[in-house]
Amino acid sequence: MANQAKLTTAGKEFEYPILKGSVGPDVIDIRKLYGQTGQFTFDPGFTSTAACESALTYIDGDEGVLLHRGYPIGQLAEQSSFMEVCYLLLNGELPSGDELETFSTTITRHTMLHEQLATFYRGFRRDAHPMAIMCGVVGALSAFYHDSTDIADPEHRKISSHRLIAKMPTIAAMAYKYSVGQPFLYPDNKLSYTGNFLRMTFGVPAEEYEVIPAVEKAMDRIFILHADHEQNASTSTVRLAGSSGANPFACIAAGIACLWGPAHGGANEAALNMLKEIGTPDKIPHYIERAKDKNDPFRLMGFGHRVYKNYDPRATVMQSTVREVFEALKVDDPLFETALRLEEIALNDPYFVEKKLFPNVDFYSGIILSAIGFPTTMFTVLFALARTVGWVAQWNEMISDPGQKIGRPRQLYTGPTQRDYVAIDKR
Ligand code: SDX
Repeated sequence: MANQAKLTTAGKEFEYPILKGSVGPDVIDIRKLYGQTGQFTFDPGFTSTAACESALTYIDGDEGVLLHRGYPIGQLAEQSSFMEVCYLLLNGELPSGDELETFSTTITRHTMLHEQLATFYRGFRRDAHPMAIMCGVVGALSAFYHDSTDIADPEHRKISSHRLIAKMPTIAAMAYKYSVGQPFLYPDNKLSYTGNFLRMTFGVPAEEYEVIPAVEKAMDRIFILHADHEQNASTSTVRLAGSSGANPFACIAAGIACLWGPAHGGANEAALNMLKEIGTPDKIPHYIERAKDKNDPFRLMGFGHRVYKNYDPRATVMQSTVREVFEALKVDDPLFETALRLEEIALNDPYFVEKKLFPNVDFYSGIILSAIGFPTTMFTVLFALARTVGWVAQWNEMISDPGQKIGRPRQLYTGPTQRDYVAIDKR
């Protein structure tokens, strides 16, 4: 097959190389297009655009496949740990026992926040959305760690990456504690990454907090499911911010801001709120009709995906995790039945079948997080906590590419052509 794509435009024929990856769609390298034709491609929303080359995560949306450095998400969710997946995403290979031990210890030793940062929280109202707090505090980290913001230095990049992965649970737990008026708890280095997070979130100084192993395992698996996801909106935001040479803390704060949107990471909060609004299964048909009505902005939150035109493999694992957590906590939530029924009805409705709208990672996660005790306002914070490793791994991959340039898209201009200024007394 020819490895050139032919384009005829402006009365001439041009050829552009077709590049092949290790798996997945080929790409047409159009970097010379504007210089040769004076024309841009036009792809708002980037539905047909590969913005970069990456070796981190591969998604096959038609087959419902998600690989991290080649390992299927289902195997990682069942057999790995979040710390091991962090190592894999950052270093490209699964660690040996010693490597994992050293990595986990390094992360553990960075979990504490500078004491001054605790005062940042007191500047927020108690009812501030935790995502607003997270945006602010993570962006402020760059004011504290000038010793690791020289992005040209691989060692600085490594320390900043470790600091971000390590401190997100502490920042997230403090945002929750602040919202409920309870004192902050310091990290406990004897606990696992996830166990430490659960204790900082739900523990109180007055008594020993007991980490429930089944909940710790479920939470750790939820972190794995959210770790990275190719060039999604927030990861692309981190890459674009990083392409200007901005420090890693500022780039991750930009990613957090983008993730907050209900079309992206904010969907887990919106999905549970939707299930609460629907309430009982008998109300589902009304909401299905609303979701199909072009004049109604209502959408089934937690359904649909830009890439997955099949079942999101993360939603499969999430659904089975609901049952495990309910069992461990001896709880039940009628919203789970409503969610299962909604999925069943939607997946048999021609509208959703034709548009290939399946449950995504956000559809079931809220039910689990709610059962564990998190308020809905914390759901996207947990998504950001877990996605930080993906963001920093993608950022490192971009910055260490000697050929990377500042991202600077162009446009199709449809505004007024040049005209002369008119003095105000002549308008
Ligand atoms: C995440 O990119 C990633 O990888 C993201 C993520 C990650 O890990 O980083 O996977 C995490 O963000 C998951 C997605 C969470 N968002 C939601 O659950 C919000 C609800 N879903 C949608 O808003 C929507 O499906 C998107 C934003 C996820 C995808 O939108 P696209 O790809 O731009 O598709 P579209 O909006 O053009 O929809 C195609 C059609 C439209 O109908 P037509 O105009 O063709 O007639 O499907 C319809 C839409 O109206 N549609 C829905 C729908 N999602 C799409 N109709 C009802 N309910 C929905 N949820």
